[in-house]
Amino acid sequence: MQLNKVSVDDINVKGKKVLVRVDFNVPLKDGVITNDNRIQAALPTIKKLIADGGKVILCSHLGKPKNGPEEKFSLAPVAVRLSELLGQDVVFANDDEVVGENAKKAVAEMNDGDVVLLQNTRFRKEETKNLEPFSTELASLAEVFVMDAFGSAHRAHCSTAGVTDHIKDTAVGYLMQKEINYLGNAVETPVRPFVAILGGAKVADKLNVISNLLEKCDTLIIGGGMAYTFLKAQGKEQGYD
Ligand code: 3PG
Repeated sequence: MQLNKVSVDDINVKGKKVLVRVDFNVPLKDGVITNDNRIQAALPTIKKLIADGGKVILCSHLGKPKNGPEEKFSLAPVAVRLSELLGQDVVFANDDEVVGENAKKAVAEMNDGDVVLLQNTRFRKEETKNLEPFSTELASLAEVFVMDAFGSAHRAHCSTAGVTDHIKDTAVGYLMQKEINYLGNAVETPVRPFVAILGGAKVADKLNVISNLLEKCDTLIIGGGMAYTFLKAQGKEQGYD
């Protein structure tokens, strides 16, 4: 099965402002990125849009700030690392309200091929509830929206879903394309026996996935932190003596 969605290969972004939702939810320790895989994974799409002459405006969440802006959830270290990886400047628009004066000014000053990174989208309380006016404000920055945050694609938030109510020119990036093609093939036309292995800590997020997979696969193996939830439900003891 091949992806039947518009991708970054199908659009012309020359001279256009492109808002790209990436997943820069990287692990940090004392403000230092301990694993930059997610930044690396976003590079093909970002480089493609730069090469095509787009004005690349990146947005992402980081962690789970509950009460608005918090320094420890700032995307500032990500801007530095991204700049190193791209070999070009990345302007970090550090606004507590995400789409504030710094972001608007940075976007207004962009040349073709420039990159701006907005502050953590979860600094806005509307983000995780997909409420206005944040979606409208995000959309006001750009003419094209590219979704490449595979790790956040299951969330209906302002920066993943709400913004598409206001920007009609949309596409998926290479990371989304790769994962959808891979998942599509694995799930729709599996080679049997089809064994699915799931890990992770957040079981609540994965119950729907588990229900769907149970109908398709021959064996489902659950590991990681969420295995304990199932062991507990089976009456098994948790923890050490
Ligand atoms: C992840 O790390 O699983 C994704 O970035 C989504 O993060 P979230 O569970 O905080 O929405």
